[in-house]
Amino acid sequence: MSDHIIVEREPGLLTLRMNRLDKLNALTRAMYSRMAEELNAANDDRSVQAVLLAGSEECFTSGNDLLDFMNAPKEGLGGEVLQFMQALFEFKKPVVAAVAGPAVGIGTTLLLHCDFVYVSRDAMLKMPFVKLGLCPEYGSSLILPRLLGQARANDLLLLSESFTGEQAAAWGIANAALDGGAATFAKARETALQLLDLAPSAVQVSKRLMRAPGREELRQVIKEEGELFGARLKHPEAMEALAAFMQKRKPDFSKFL
Ligand code: COA
Repeated sequence: MSDHIIVEREPGLLTLRMNRLDKLNALTRAMYSRMAEELNAANDDRSVQAVLLAGSEECFTSGNDLLDFMNAPKEGLGGEVLQFMQALFEFKKPVVAAVAGPAVGIGTTLLLHCDFVYVSRDAMLKMPFVKLGLCPEYGSSLILPRLLGQARANDLLLLSESFTGEQAAAWGIANAALDGGAATFAKARETALQLLDLAPSAVQVSKRLMRAPGREELRQVIKEEGELFGARLKHPEAMEALAAFMQKRKPDFSKFL
């Protein structure tokens, strides 16, 4: 069990908060595992109607722990991250996310699988997979070009450009951008509480219907991305990029030309 995930239960609502602030809520295997367990249990628990996912009011998450990336075994990252993303992907009930500060890597990818996303205007979202010698993950190579158009998706996924909460809301990645972490969390909570007043199975059936079109294609893409991502973790380009981050220097990819 990880105390880096704070679990709060109240009637109808499960709140999961990432809480590893000294590393900007970088996600460890134990953190993924805890969130996966909670989501899987909540999926089958009739008393849970919605989930609220948050970091702190200053920071959502800096993404996967980069040390875990570096130390990944030959066969890939281990099951925890996939268990978590799978639990989120298959979750029948609505998930509301509150995002302030950095939301990097999987911190942005996971938002594509939440149902309501609130961001602080100045949040910093980013998917620096290519910059790290890796590739997009968990459906983002399909979802983002469709949502944003190829041009903007290239900015975000090939150039690893960061974008603000304000942009995320304007582009349809988030429902709304708010002023600061406290207002963002309050709005996310308000939506989560609003969901608790609705007919539970009507909400679930409607979520399923809206996510059904193209689901099989998305599953295929997720599988292919997962295989490539796992293999790339051991690629010399990724090793160079990760070592550069740890040594606080610019990566040098010239030797791979
Ligand atoms: N994994 C492990 N540790 C991380 C981390 C991560 N993903 N992100 C940040 N940290 C650690 C830093 O190493 C630093 O630790 P230290 O104080 O022991 O040196 C601490 O968290 C604070 O990070 P720092 O980089 O100093 O904060 P910043 O405010 O200058 O920058 C970010 C914030 C998010 C822009 C920057 O930390 C970053 O780019 N992190 C990596 C994000 C990433 O690539 N994630 C994986 C995506 S696939």
